[in-house]
Amino acid sequence: MSERTILFLPGDGIGPEVMEEVRRVIGWYAKRQIAIRIEEDLVGGAAYDRYGTPLAEQTLEKAKTIGTVMFGAVGGPQYDSLPFEKKPERGLLRLRKELGLFANLRPAMVFPALADASSLKRELVEGLDILILRELTGGVYFGEPRGIEVLPDGQKRAVDTQVYTTGEIERIARVAFELARVRQNKVTSVEKANVMHTGVLWREVVQAVHDREFPDVALEHMYADNCAMQLVRKPKQFDVIVTDNLFGDLLSDCAAMLTGSLGMLPSASLGAPGPDGRRKALYEPVHGSAPDIAGRGIANPLACILSFAMLLRYSLELPAEAARLEQAVARVLEQGYRTADIMQPGCTQLSTAAMGTQVLAALDALS
Ligand code: IPM
Ligand code: MG
Repeated sequence: MSERTILFLPGDGIGPEVMEEVRRVIGWYAKRQIAIRIEEDLVGGAAYDRYGTPLAEQTLEKAKTIGTVMFGAVGGPQYDSLPFEKKPERGLLRLRKELGLFANLRPAMVFPALADASSLKRELVEGLDILILRELTGGVYFGEPRGIEVLPDGQKRAVDTQVYTTGEIERIARVAFELARVRQNKVTSVEKANVMHTGVLWREVVQAVHDREFPDVALEHMYADNCAMQLVRKPKQFDVIVTDNLFGDLLSDCAAMLTGSLGMLPSASLGAPGPDGRRKALYEPVHGSAPDIAGRGIANPLACILSFAMLLRYSLELPAEAARLEQAVARVLEQGYRTADIMQPGCTQLSTAAMGTQVLAALDALS
């Protein structure tokens, strides 16, 4: 029986509720000789309340040592007036930066049972399976200079800086091409080379990596505004979309909505392979802390469970188990079980915990 350790950071809002269902899934695997040890700590507002900071140093050290983080969500209205550096979101951004998690995988796929939940027509989204690959540790999220200054005339002036180096673009481009090779073999690289210097460099470097190392993969370049439009016009034209930190933030929310429920979407953030070949990684549902429904036991745990499936695939190298868990989720949906956010006529509405129970039952049935 091999033992693996992961760090649980449930965070705020519905984070702890959905992570609880992942804990039960881990319990299911433990009974099948796949032991995963859980270490746990606080992040975001919960960490601020306890430690006065959204990410305590000892938590960061733990994350670096363990290397694999299962993350719930951060944020809540009670923290809105905190100074910038104390905001819950800073905890997440610091983890991404300090662990070097530059590659953010955000799959947007439509489960057959949910094809009618999309705001687009069924024929546009049925069978949709695209992957947004977002650069996560560079660009305007971290570029210097940044800040707000007061000018001599009393006005304020705010600055953020969009910055990318060749190396940063090359490493994310490689991930894009490698992922495309095991999917539909197509990469769409997205920037605004018509107005931004970072866009010009982005396009040039992605093309060069392609020509040098991945000539077998189809590559197209697209401006970010056009990509936003194409995503809602004809989303199935895409396979892998690779883009910078800010455009990736926007386009992944857009892609998420195509699927009909934000409550369904997982994500993985990966670093470069270390000397031992292992990548540091953080897995989180895309939906966020949803403070409006927190504590009511109605949140959808499926995005978090699917994020754990990505953890099985990318960090624990258990692709068959990842696939089994994804099939279990699909099966639960086919059986007509829904949480409130994806409820449809004729289906059975379940609580967070009852949905977790159904996933465990589906895992049993698939074993
Ligand atoms: C996301 C979120 C974060 C981001 C926030 C919470 C800092 O919107 O993961 O997409 O902007 O990256
Ligand atoms: Mg976002």
